[in-house]
Amino acid sequence: MLESEPFLPIMSSPTVPTTHFSELKIKIEQRQARVAVIGLGYVGLPLALLYSETGFPVTGFDIDQRKVSTLNGGGSYIFRITAPEIQRARSQGLSATSNYSQLEQMDAVIICVPTPLNEYHEPDLSYITGTAESIAPHLQAGQLVILESTTYPGTTEEVLIPILEKGNKRGLKASRGLQQDEKSFFIAFSPEREDPGNQTVARRDIPKVVGGLNPQASELAGVLYGAIFSRTVPVSSPAVAEMTKLLENIYRCVNIALVNELKLLCLRMGIDIWEVIEAASTKPFGFHPFYPGPGLGGHCIPVDPFYLSWKAKEWDFHTRFIELAGEINTNMPYHVLESVGRALNQHKKALNGSQVLVLGVAYKKDIDDLRESPALTIIELLQKEGAKVSYNDPYFPEVGRGRKYDLQMKCAPLNDLGQYDCALIVTDHSDYDYERIVRESNLVVDTRNATRGIKSSKIVHC
Ligand SMILES: NC(=O)c1ccc[n+]([C@@H]2O[C@H](COP(=O)([O-])OP(=O)(O)OC[C@H]3O[C@@H](n4cnc5c(N)ncnc54)[C@H](O)[C@@H]3O)[C@@H](O)[C@H]2O)c1
Repeated sequence: MLESEPFLPIMSSPTVPTTHFSELKIKIEQRQARVAVIGLGYVGLPLALLYSETGFPVTGFDIDQRKVSTLNGGGSYIFRITAPEIQRARSQGLSATSNYSQLEQMDAVIICVPTPLNEYHEPDLSYITGTAESIAPHLQAGQLVILESTTYPGTTEEVLIPILEKGNKRGLKASRGLQQDEKSFFIAFSPEREDPGNQTVARRDIPKVVGGLNPQASELAGVLYGAIFSRTVPVSSPAVAEMTKLLENIYRCVNIALVNELKLLCLRMGIDIWEVIEAASTKPFGFHPFYPGPGLGGHCIPVDPFYLSWKAKEWDFHTRFIELAGEINTNMPYHVLESVGRALNQHKKALNGSQVLVLGVAYKKDIDDLRESPALTIIELLQKEGAKVSYNDPYFPEVGRGRKYDLQMKCAPLNDLGQYDCALIVTDHSDYDYERIVRESNLVVDTRNATRGIKSSKIVHC
């Protein structure tokens, strides 16, 4: 561990055997603990690579056979992770598998599977329950199991642990309080805080919050993460750690909604919201800037807050800020649609039949992630109104079928912008030459202030 806050000391007593605990702790400290990462997506794969780079023997588990074969063949399926990085990790022993029986050889198991919403906007925990059911028959006494997937407070204790305890045939139980015997395993929750595309903070410098079911689990998880993160932050329970992640995301969601609403007012009043935010940001205390946009995107901010509002109902509680923020943010793609219609109208054109080029479909700039991207909703809304929509995105040669859409489109080249009635900037990728886009387009609708500093009557801010 580099510089971490102190964990509660483990009370050793002759009646509490600490063999598993001590053995595992030493193994982790000596980087001999075998680490399993389950779910090799945007979170799990970089985590597996970090442990591998640090010298731990790592095995990745995924039900997606394509990912397993790609990794074992030394390839990558995530844009910002290069094939040489995978090959380096392979030479250091990293391997991938779909075979859960290999978990029996592991010392620590970190779960990074998806936590989406279902069609009724309710938490879909099926990936967590499915993973827990697959782990349970192979669970070993003394193993440390950590959940990283974002979820509502209570998931680790109410969902994960019961499945693990019920599904193993050896009668293994999660270690609680000071209770630890030959038949116990350790459990913790530790939220992922990655910010894709953010180059300003190295991943290891993002403090890692850890909440164990008991002090031993907290300490083990703290030591494990301390090997790859500069700072770990112990909290008193898995539920506190689960809620911490939700607070962080709800804070973003609500503040983005606030600034989106103020943008709508500013547009009506003829005030530039971007200039306002820039000026407000000069305040050295008490203000943190958030920026308006075409709607929320990504697997986190549009999804996670609703995990809490769903859980809150169990307590007869309505999370009004979350609901209101959701309403405002969900409306933003409709605002973009109206703005494009109005802008075309100014050019004496109808949306129906107009050629619209959507620039950027990733949910945020400079990343290859489409999940919950507002661009997809905007494309569908434009198509419903009869617009002929094309898109360009350097990160996506094509957009096929997703969980909620089926667009089947191919990336259009940027060589003849004059053929479009409107270029709509949805994602402000750094690769775009905005001067050129404005110069060569007939009309530019800008949802991100990507054209800041460019003076042209062709630009419409929305
Ligand atoms: N991506 C991020 O930046 C980010 C940031 C913070 C938190 N999170 C949270 O982390 C979790 C994972 O997110 P992600 O972005 O890595 O998702 P992802 O979809 O990129 O990856 C999840 C992986 O889990 C695999 N999987 C699903 N079920 C499985 C099973 N039963 N056994 C083994 N593998 C299984 C999938 O095949 C996939 O490869 C989610 O809860 C998400 O909310 C993500």
